[in-house]
Amino acid sequence: MTFEIENVSKIFVSEDSGEKVYALKDINLTIETGKFVSFVGPSGCGKTTLLRLIEGFENPTEGTIKDDGELVTEPSNERGFIFQHYSLFPWLNVIENVIFGLDINGKPEKENKKRALEYLETVGLKDFAERYPHELSGGMKQRVAIIRSIINDSKSLLMDESFSALDVQTKHKLQKQIYKICEEENKTIIFVTHDIDETVFLSDEIVVLSRRPGTVKKIFKINLERPRDRDAQEFKDLVSEITQEIAALGDG
Ligand SMILES: Nc1ncnc2c1ncn2[C@@H]1O[C@H](COP(=O)(O)OP(=O)(O)OP(=O)(O)O)[C@@H](O)[C@H]1O
Ligand SMILES: [Mg+2]
Repeated sequence: MTFEIENVSKIFVSEDSGEKVYALKDINLTIETGKFVSFVGPSGCGKTTLLRLIEGFENPTEGTIKDDGELVTEPSNERGFIFQHYSLFPWLNVIENVIFGLDINGKPEKENKKRALEYLETVGLKDFAERYPHELSGGMKQRVAIIRSIINDSKSLLMDESFSALDVQTKHKLQKQIYKICEEENKTIIFVTHDIDETVFLSDEIVVLSRRPGTVKKIFKINLERPRDRDAQEFKDLVSEITQEIAALGDG
């Protein structure tokens, strides 16, 4: 088991006005090792907040989060975090960006570069290894940043709308690749998205959060065989069922 989230609530207090925002309320979730779990729900329901608590960027107001039995109090290399808007180091080329941070694994640079090239190849960027960020498109930069996070030997990956800015083709490609890479390495993934098609394509479990304060409204377990077929009736039915579940939460 990777994550145990027990009775977690989060209240933000504004430093200026002292005004309180009740973001999350009584969240209880268990996330098993190697599972792909998504958080979905209306804008502002606390998805990013929950992900940030799991990483350890913030601490819960109430309750506890454990990663493999250890209380999460601060960020850790065991947990990779991929932001929606991330940046590359402009003065490093693609492959240098990818292996940045790997020097702590003690392996020779040559070996790290070889591995980085294999990963870059999976996202069609092998030929761009020596280019610099300003020579890449937005989607290419995003792929580099994602590979940089995947290549670190973290046990889990937390992704906040990481694919939302990509065109559909690139997105579909990356969805297939990320699943494959993580399955091979038995990584636990927690994924936040507004894209229900994406979540049904990728997830073992989909956690629907209610409007703010976010509570666990419903958990869907997706047992469709992989790779999943978007044209299958079962797939379409699940997409519409989950879409309706979220729509039923109302406009607040
Ligand atoms: N650091 C903060 N200080 C104060 N309030 C915050 C802070 N972070 C988030 N909030 C509030 O907590 C609530 C949940 O925000 P959060 O970003 O987690 O929502 P979300 O579900 O990720 O939304 P979206 O789908 O739009 O990204 C919002 O009302 C937001 O204003
Ligand atoms: Mg968010």
